[in-house]
Formats: sequence, C-alpha cells, structure tokens
Amino acid sequence: MDEQIMPRYGIDPYLEWVKKEGLPVVEDYGIDLFDVATAPWPRYGVKAAACHLRGRGDFANMFLFELPPGGSTTPQRHLYEEVIYVLEGTGSTQLEFADGVRRSFEWGPRSMFAIPLNAKHRHFNGSGRNRALMVATTDLPLVMNVFHNERFIFDTNFEFSERTGKDDYYSGEGDLILVRPGNHMWETNFVPDLEQLELQPWADRGGGSSNIMFVLADGIMHAHISEMPVGTYKKGHRHGPGAHVMCVVGQGYSLLWFEGDKDFLRIAWKHGVVFPPADRQLHQHFNTSNRPARYLATGVGSLRYPLTAVKRRSSGTTSPGAKSAVSLSIKQGGDQTEYEDQDPRIHPMWLAELRQNKVESKMEKDFPAVARA
Ligand SMILES: [Fe+2]
Repeated sequence: MDEQIMPRYGIDPYLEWVKKEGLPVVEDYGIDLFDVATAPWPRYGVKAAACHLRGRGDFANMFLFELPPGGSTTPQRHLYEEVIYVLEGTGSTQLEFADGVRRSFEWGPRSMFAIPLNAKHRHFNGSGRNRALMVATTDLPLVMNVFHNERFIFDTNFEFSERTGKDDYYSGEGDLILVRPGNHMWETNFVPDLEQLELQPWADRGGGSSNIMFVLADGIMHAHISEMPVGTYKKGHRHGPGAHVMCVVGQGYSLLWFEGDKDFLRIAWKHGVVFPPADRQLHQHFNTSNRPARYLATGVGSLRYPLTAVKRRSSGTTSPGAKSAVSLSIKQGGDQTEYEDQDPRIHPMWLAELRQNKVESKMEKDFPAVARA
C-alpha cells in the first residue's frame, strides 16, 4: 500500500524518534551498562545508546553517554528531565540559566545530578586519557509521546526559573527535609558521591535499613538511595513499573518474582548493572558483602510530585496520614512481605551465600527458629 495512504495508528512517537536519531537500542530485563555498544549520536556529539529495560513502564528511558578523552557534548536544552549517574571517569557539567547565570560542578564515579528542565547544559570529560561513562534516566518517552514534536522539545526558549534551585545545590550541599521514616528527602541538584551521603533510618523495611528520597531540580524524576548494613537484607515488596535499580557499593543480589511463581529470578549485583522490578513484581534486596551495600533507584514520579495514583499509593501520599503501601504488610492491604511471611527458601539461600563470603548474619532476631537450628 502507498505509504501516503497507510493509516497511521498505534504509533509510539518516542520509539520512532529513537530510530530516526540512529541510536543503538538495548532492550532487556537487566542490562550491564559496561557491555552496551554505543555509536556516535550527532545530536550530542558523543557516542551514546538508548537503554530500554523490559518492564520499565510507559514514562522512562535511559541514555548511556560515552565521552571520549578530552571530549564534550554539544550544548543542549530540552523539555524533558534527566537524572544522571556517573559510572566511570571524571569531568564537569556546565549549566546556563536565564540572564546568562552559569553554574558548574565537577563529577566522578558515583556522582548523581539533575539537569533542571530546559536548562542549557554541556558535559566535559576532565581526562585527556580516559573515557567517561554516564547514564541518564529521563522522562523523554512521556514527553515525546505527549507532544510528538522534536522541535518543541529541543528548541524551546522558555526558562523555568523556579527550577534552578539554590547555589548550594550545585556544590554538593542540600536541604534535609524530614517527613517520616522511608520518606525523608534530600533536596539538591548534585550529589558528588552517593557512597558518602548520610541516609536516614527506615525501620519498617527491616534489617537496619536506611534510605533517602531525592528532590532534584524540583522535578518529577524520582531517585532514592537505600543501604543495608553488613549481614542484613530488607523485606520484599512490590510497586508499579519504572524503577531503574543500580548497585552503588557493596555486593549482593536481588530476587524478583510474581505471586504464584515457582522460582525466583536472581540478579547478582555488579557496578554498572541496571534492572527493573516490573509492575507489581515482588522483589527483595540482599547484602552479602562485608561492607554496607547501597543501591540507587531512578524513575518517573518523585515523592514531591508522584504523578500517578500508583505512585501515590506506594509513597503514602494519597491523603494526609496515609501509610506508604511499600511499608505495610500485604496481609494488611499493603505491598510489603514481612519476614515471617516470606518464602522459606529465601533465608537459607542468603545464609549460604553469607557463609561463603565469611560474613555473619545479623538477622537472628527476625529468624529465631533458624538461629536455633
Ligand atoms: Fe522496589
């Protein structure tokens, strides 16, 4: 049939755009970002790839950027948000706001930062010898599928001056906003090293866990970081799609399964691996190393601006005083698996890994029967 008269329907403008840009696309349940082949992306002037986690939901994607030694991206601005996590290398990012106000900061491995909406920005590799590798989680699929107009998204001069934030937010400082355990927030634009950031206790998730929710550039992008002390693991839970989980420090693994599944999907943690708990898929994170383990999760729908009803339910922002579904037992209508309800295979499986690594369990109080056995 003549293309002119082919009916156009069922279109995904974001995917069409990715194809047109000539970006390599990787699609999988778990992706090792160090294994992804990048190719020159004329728009950014560096090599890049689009990474699409299966089960990522409708709103988020990832772009992997590879800056050559001494290289830089071309100046950009766009009407989608970005949270960037640095995997390898050192460098700097320059931002330019309304009235020519500039801010810049220097990043390295484990840095995380946000590009405020439509702010002009440019990344520079600070090394003349080594490449820099960074991964951006963005809401471009959402934005492109709403407007399906590239010129509007990449060539609009509007300044969102309220998104700029304080000067301190670009120097590694931020504001700690205490809400309640599990929902405490750190408002900033730049975290120099996610390993060093002080977290807040979240007793409901078990295992001595702690976390912090980020507010980045007053945006809708979600990011949070969680830590499990040595010899512990967290309770299982489930939520909507779109969390991009990345190991930051320590070693461990995650189990993922759907209710009724006979077996678990096991994903070993490794720097550079990203994986997505799919919609309502139960998942549980385990530390097996002799140091605290931290992971970062990025996606669309922040604690400040949850965006969807599903996110509001998970974070307990449906109404004042509502409990987060991810902190409440499934037996009570929530989305968390308490230790006493978890599959009996899970704890021994973890203990066996601990023994191999010569790490002692600190979970006896939660599993007294196993401790006595
Ligand atoms: Fe989760």
